[in-house]
Amino acid sequence: MRDFEPKKMKQVYFTGIRRVLEKANQMQAEGRSVIHFEAGQPDFDSPAHIKEAAKAALDAGKTKYTSNYGTIGLRKAIAEKLAKQNNLQVDPASEIMVTVGGEEAMAAAVLALVDAGDEVLITDPGYSPYSSMIKIANAVPVSVPLKEENNFNFDLEALEAAITEKTKLLMLCTPANPTGTMMDRENLLKLAAICEKHDLIVVSDEAYEQVVYDDNVHTSFASLPGMKDRTVTIQSFSKSYSMCGWRIGYIVASRELIQILVRTHQNMVLSANSFAQEAARAALTGPQTALNEMLKEFDKRRTVMYESFCKLGIPCNKPQAAFYLFPNVSVLGMDGKEFAERLLDEYGVACVPGIEFGENGRNNVRISYATSLENCVEGMRRIEEFVKKVQEEK
Ligand SMILES: Cc1ncc(COP(=O)(O)O)c(C=O)c1O
Repeated sequence: MRDFEPKKMKQVYFTGIRRVLEKANQMQAEGRSVIHFEAGQPDFDSPAHIKEAAKAALDAGKTKYTSNYGTIGLRKAIAEKLAKQNNLQVDPASEIMVTVGGEEAMAAAVLALVDAGDEVLITDPGYSPYSSMIKIANAVPVSVPLKEENNFNFDLEALEAAITEKTKLLMLCTPANPTGTMMDRENLLKLAAICEKHDLIVVSDEAYEQVVYDDNVHTSFASLPGMKDRTVTIQSFSKSYSMCGWRIGYIVASRELIQILVRTHQNMVLSANSFAQEAARAALTGPQTALNEMLKEFDKRRTVMYESFCKLGIPCNKPQAAFYLFPNVSVLGMDGKEFAERLLDEYGVACVPGIEFGENGRNNVRISYATSLENCVEGMRRIEEFVKKVQEEK
């Protein structure tokens, strides 16, 4: 029989995050105590009023396909939210498309906007599905290195150096996974000037726009002067409302771009889940207290974990947003992969090797604090024991 796997799929890997999760779950099933620092989703339940809205929608028979663009009720609520929170004025009838989470939004955008051989700029480290999807689209991911000493901020000179005639898209992720770094408005304005100069389309992944700490402020790239028509904004209900399993996100873009993107979306999924869209509408129009409570909890955990890494002498960024730390473990004489493997095998703490997010993350691990404060404390206690053991071995 011939090799059924096409060349492009040989370069697309099962995500490392899932691999760690599956191993950790297997260990747990075998009776080991495991602390999960690998998860990329809030540990909180979805708020009750959101669940009630889904139940009511089911009882009211909202079980059919919706418009390919999503229900107009949800799109109107999204448009109001964008005006209030993101300084974006958009037409709900033509400039919003509801998707199966931010992930499908990203896939629909990449598949629709590149031809084979086009180059797409991504960051290293960065959210790994971008490069996979670009390869699936037969396009070429081009990495722009982010430096730790720069707190993993976009290096605009390196970015401009990576642009060629073939560059079509830039994948922007702020707040960023896996680093928790946010680009400030000043830097985004400089980035906007580069995108204009080189006529790039920007896919702005804003999945973590509301999971922001201290006095940091999220700026939507499309809200910058002149950027609306060249930006595909992706937002999601997953992280802001602890609705990862509901699979609802959306794209905001010009009418012209939406008319292109709807054709990938339509051909892949037709429409997002009907009753989950009703729940998403309730999320936007109902009380926002759950989000604030969740942020308070995340903030406590962030502080505890960040301070623990500092005490251990392991260099670590203090995340401005999201729920990840990205410490550099090379001071222990090992890379992130060895650290993550030994930590899970020997101490039952699961985290993700930084190399899963690109070569520049080789010496780091991604630690998610989307687990209870109690688990954070216990996990850090185990990490401290592991670090002591490693230091004694030296
Ligand atoms: C940066 C980023 N974008 C998009 C997503 C996809 O989220 P969802 O499809 O649940 O909206 C994730 C999930 O972890 C993410 O970290």
